[in-house]
Amino acid sequence: MKKNPSRNVHFSKRPSNLLDQINASIDVDKRLFKEDIAGSIAHAKMLGKQKIISKKDKDKLVSGLKSIKSDIEKNKVKFSRELEDIHMNIESLLLGKVGKVAEKLHTARSRNDQVVTDLKLWIKNNSNEIDKELKIFQKTLINISKNNINTIMPGYTHLQIAQPITLAHHLLAYVEMIGRDRSRLKGCLYNLDENPLGAAALAGTSFPIDRSYTTKELGFREPTRNAMDSVSDRDFVIEFIFVLSLVGVHLSRLAEEIILWSNQNFNFIFLPDELSTGSSIMPQKKNPDGAELVRAKASLMIGNLTSILNILKGLPLSYSKDLQDDKSLIFNSYDNLLLCLKVMNETLSKSKFNKPRMREVIENSDSTATDLANWLVQNLNYTFRDAYKTTGNVVAYCNKKKLSLEKLTLKELQIFDKNIDNSAKKLLSATNSIVIKSSFGGTSPKNTKKMINFAIKKYLK
Ligand code: ARG
Repeated sequence: MKKNPSRNVHFSKRPSNLLDQINASIDVDKRLFKEDIAGSIAHAKMLGKQKIISKKDKDKLVSGLKSIKSDIEKNKVKFSRELEDIHMNIESLLLGKVGKVAEKLHTARSRNDQVVTDLKLWIKNNSNEIDKELKIFQKTLINISKNNINTIMPGYTHLQIAQPITLAHHLLAYVEMIGRDRSRLKGCLYNLDENPLGAAALAGTSFPIDRSYTTKELGFREPTRNAMDSVSDRDFVIEFIFVLSLVGVHLSRLAEEIILWSNQNFNFIFLPDELSTGSSIMPQKKNPDGAELVRAKASLMIGNLTSILNILKGLPLSYSKDLQDDKSLIFNSYDNLLLCLKVMNETLSKSKFNKPRMREVIENSDSTATDLANWLVQNLNYTFRDAYKTTGNVVAYCNKKKLSLEKLTLKELQIFDKNIDNSAKKLLSATNSIVIKSSFGGTSPKNTKKMINFAIKKYLK
């Protein structure tokens, strides 16, 4: 049985099995091994540079740590639960490699500053993978948009048909959301880029350490300024999980739309067979399980966010073991989000949009009513409220006659104002409605083209 160096002589008994079960985190935090070793190497080098340990000892520690890293990478290491966590496991492996000198490594540090350093490094090392997937997803959305600048579909508010828009306009809304997510991720990385190593347990240390040196070695921007805050701060975990949750929320909104669009009543999208499942009883079924699970994973991520917020809210300074549970939340959100991004990317790039159906739905709605009201303002000098009322009467007429606005003849329109002319009638087609929405941010194809070029420059370079 391996002896856990963090259990001092004043313990007369080994931990109970139950304590082991609740306390050991190695199954989760072994994922931090690279960062833990990087932190230890920087620390050992600093101890050597500051003459807190000899150069010879420093060299032994560094080469021992490097060789442990390669052993772990080659799958040659079996971690032990008795040693609780990745930190004690690596310390014990180091003892096996270089002997007694390994016991010098923990001079002037604590697991408290060690673990928070590891975690910050892990987020720094792994968030580029998220950013990469976000960018790929934006690219997919932009590519589909490029081919659908003129694809007309209903735009909704309250899930009621509101006005004609284009598919490009709809998808580019997600490009914006993801753009903000990417900048939030950057902001989160900026905020966490302070090195906690050297805070020791909570009070700093009496050894003449050089925190600027480890800061540079580990690639942090600057050292943290308060040792207590350094070891008890998990704001960066909250921020990171929040950013991931919000991406999850954005994906979930699109997933929900895909689920609706693939429903027979909408019938706007054909999902690829390879991303749909069947029913075990109903032979005709084709279910959008991928999108449904993306929707569910967003809930799990939000759960992780509320968990970490709650873990922190009642915690007195500084470190308490509650903080150990932050890692499974981070890893769970991270893994789920990467998977969701890949699934959504594949779903969208392989789906086919049912353009005739989308046009049919918009043409059978009264979704150009606002355009008629605007026309009355622009051409017959109505106030907007008068125009709104008159157009309301036109819509009521359509409902009574069971006609859509677009089908009204000029004569019928002139019942409401004899000055209405053919240019108003023309306006009532969805195609025209799209073209005239040329304000900045509007759905007109001309504007959309500009937006696409802007998005390519801003997000895809
Ligand atoms: N495994 C612990 C964690 O993840 C490391 C820090 C332990 N510190 C302590 N004082 N027991 O939080």
